[in-house]
Formats: sequence, structure tokens, C-alpha cells
Amino acid sequence: MRWAEEQHGSDALRELAQALDAAQGEVVVLSGAGVSVSSDIPAFRGRGGLWHRYDPLEYAHIEAFLHTPEKVWRMLRELDAVLEAASPNPAHDALAELERLGLVRSVITQNVDGLHQAAGSETVIELHGSRRTLSCVDCGATVGREQVLDTVERGDVPRCERCGGLLKPDVVLFGEALPAGALERARDEVRDCQILLVVGTSAEVEPAASLPALGAGHGAEVWDINPEPSGLPRDLQGPGSAGRRLGLHAEEALPRLVRLLRADDR
Ligand code: OAD
Repeated sequence: MRWAEEQHGSDALRELAQALDAAQGEVVVLSGAGVSVSSDIPAFRGRGGLWHRYDPLEYAHIEAFLHTPEKVWRMLRELDAVLEAASPNPAHDALAELERLGLVRSVITQNVDGLHQAAGSETVIELHGSRRTLSCVDCGATVGREQVLDTVERGDVPRCERCGGLLKPDVVLFGEALPAGALERARDEVRDCQILLVVGTSAEVEPAASLPALGAGHGAEVWDINPEPSGLPRDLQGPGSAGRRLGLHAEEALPRLVRLLRADDR
């Protein structure tokens, strides 16, 4: 697969709308932090991103969590407050609408903000877990986020009521495996779709970063919506047509796409 020239205009969106229409629902979305930027959640790697202020190896690695949980909880507390204040933006709404219209089959997301579900997307694969629950690193007991809110807000490290072990949000830290089954489901989805719509990811973190190549290798047409060039490989070989890049913001491009599809004589 070779990437076609970056395109900004209506023509490219119209072509994408036609491709989505023709794919008859065999469309899978892979989303990243860029989708939630206009919900006031800064992306990880951009300016103002979390990884500019917190070195991920020091603050977002499982070994760091186990050895200096107070320190890692400082970052988690800040992240949680930002995510808690956020609500879906037009990009999330548009993806949910595309699913309701029968045009999108599933959303694979690296985000842990739950905003796809809040917008109404129903088939969401959370590759990097979720902040709704926490699990004990020793005995595996799971509790709901609301059960530890007071402790966290006091600035304390939440501990397991059963064994006293550390409670860790069920989000994937560096050095951890992805949630059981999520990666397999995601791989099945991309192997079996006609179009993979990649939105708002730098495609720098594995294994999510390899999903577009896997899809292309199985014949999927890959479209990338991102105002900046991402790390998606340029030279993937696949039987499908060239990958396409749209240099647009998700919250602008996706609602326009929905309007085009609604206006269509389908
Ligand atoms: P990144 O912060 O690495 O990348 C965000 C991407 O979104 C960048 O390529 C931006 O150009 C793009 N972007 C910014 N604003 C946008 C907009 N309005 N519309 C569309 N795109 C926009 O975030 P991810 O790729 O999601 O993992 O990062 C992947 C993983 O790395 C995260 O899930 C997290 C992080 O470390 C873990 O913590 C395990």
C-alpha cells in the first residue's frame, strides 16, 4: 500500500463517503487521543500533552507503579480529573451516528476516556483498558472507580480491602499486556473489514500501531484522518488500493462525512 497525497478538501471527503457507502457496513475505526482533543483532553505526545510533563517511563510504567505508587498516582489523579470533566465532541457523535446508520461495524480505541460509549457507540473495543474499574495487583479483586474516589481525592493511594495490595486502574501501563481478548478481537476486526478508518492516532505505540498494516495485508483500504502526518508506514504492501491521508481535524471531518452520507440518495 502506498499513501496517496495528503488531501484537505471536500473532494477527498466525498470519496471517503462513497467508499463507506459502498463498503456496506464492513468498516472498522481505529481511534486515538486526537479524537478527544476537542473534548479538552490533550493528546499524549502533542504540545501540552501528558508525556511532555510526565516521563512515561517514570510515571506510566508498571514497574514505576509497583515501586513508587504515590508518584504514579499523582499523574493518574491529574489524568482522571481531566477525563472526568470531558464530554463527547462532534467526532465521537459522528462515529456513533455512522454505527447507527449501519455504516461502521466497530470502533477499536486506544483511549481510556469512555467518550465513544458516552456518545452512543455500542461496539467499542478498548485496547488500553478502561478507568471505570481498578484491580488489586496482588489478589486481582476488582472495584468500581467510585469506591475509591474519596481516597484518591484525599491524595492517598487506594488499597485492596481484601488483602491490602495496591489498586491499579484497569488502564494499560507501559510494560503491561493488553486486556485479555481485546487485541485478538481487534485483529479479527481489521482482518475482516473493507475499510479501516484510522482517526487521531500517532500510530507510535504497539501493538495498536500495527493494526493498519494487518488490515491492509488482508485487503482493507486504509484512510487516515489526522491534521499531522502520523507514524503509519508508507510502504505497506497489500492487495488493496493506496492508503489515503486526510489532513483534517476529526471533529471537523467526521460530522461533514455524516452530512454527506445523509444527503446521499442511498
Ligand atoms: P498520541 O498523543 O500519540 O497522538 C495523537 C494524534 O492525534 C497525533 O498524531 C495528532 O496529530 C492527532 N491529532 C491531534 N488533534 C487531532 C484532531 N483534532 N483530530 C484528529 N487527530 C488529531 O495519541 P495516541 O496515538 O492515541 O497508551 O497514543 C497511543 C497510546 O500512547 C495511548 O493510548 C497511550 C499513549 O502512551 C498508553 O498509555 C498505554
